[in-house]
Amino acid sequence: MAVKIAFIGFGGVGQALLQILLDKEKELRQEEGLETSIVAVADVMKGSVYNPGGLDGNQLLKLASEKRSMEEYDGGPGTVTGLDSLAAIKETNADVIVEVTYTDVKTGQPAVDHCRAAFQAGKSVITTNKGPVAVAYDELSTLAEEKGVFWGFEGTVMSGTPALRLPQETLRGNTIEQITGILNGTTNYMLTEMEKGLTYEQALEQAQNNGYAEADPTSDVEGYDARYKAVILSSVIMKTPLKADDVKCTGITGVTRDMLTDAIERGKRIRLVAKIKRTSEGVEAEVKPKELDVSDQLAGVPGATNAILYECDLAGPIFLTGAGAGLKETGFSLLIDLIHFERRRSMVKQ
Ligand code: HSE
Repeated sequence: MAVKIAFIGFGGVGQALLQILLDKEKELRQEEGLETSIVAVADVMKGSVYNPGGLDGNQLLKLASEKRSMEEYDGGPGTVTGLDSLAAIKETNADVIVEVTYTDVKTGQPAVDHCRAAFQAGKSVITTNKGPVAVAYDELSTLAEEKGVFWGFEGTVMSGTPALRLPQETLRGNTIEQITGILNGTTNYMLTEMEKGLTYEQALEQAQNNGYAEADPTSDVEGYDARYKAVILSSVIMKTPLKADDVKCTGITGVTRDMLTDAIERGKRIRLVAKIKRTSEGVEAEVKPKELDVSDQLAGVPGATNAILYECDLAGPIFLTGAGAGLKETGFSLLIDLIHFERRRSMVKQ
């Protein structure tokens, strides 16, 4: 039976997932037993539409690319009118809510409310929004468990690179003593480009043009984006909840080209490094620019790429590197969550 999907938010990431579902329809059906149908789309930018089988995926993508109001197609029986995503969540018959709204990472809103409403209505959620995981992990994961629904958020750290699922699944049985990573692509790109001679402003502009930076790049350059990812890693992987303020945080605004070239002359590179370390009292975490030896694996991570090093008691150091942003990559992170949802659903059925 097809997984019924509702998109709450339908910007680049949601559209990227839908495009993947269309492009790989046959492989997903044959290899993963995954079939999907889109039953609702709610997007404040485009008006809200309840899609009771009226529009197929191609039509939805066409509509989104033409930036036409979906309300033109609204009006069938069971229609949700207006822009009320919460109503859309409650009224849709979807199994899975794809929560990809524009969300404030500090408050986690509106994504926190969307996740809560979905779980309360017995629906699963997959999301790439960091906010709900960074701000409300305990509450939301407990609620999802109580309701017996699935919550996937692989894309919140390192996009489609499996920074969360690798330690949660493949490295099970290990105690992870420390996690060190380059978790923000924008700043890694900027530092790499400034070493080559660009000014801070030029490097930031390029990162924005390449689509790496957040809508407000303050979050990238001040280290807040990496800090939220550190909070997520601490809660989800180290099983130790942290608040953003618990993570000491210094961004790259004070790093100059002179500092970068001086470091290179001494065989070093300055990179924005996040560290989460298990201690006897719990966990200590920080984000700050650090001088690394050029031979350090983290120093060799190019451009906007991300990397993470898990120090495991049994498996030893495990290093993972890959994209930390990008529409296709982030769309993939939702796909892998969806595949896990379907696997779990078919196991429960058996
Ligand atoms: N702005 C983020 C980055 C995007 O540069 O890594 C992914 O969270």
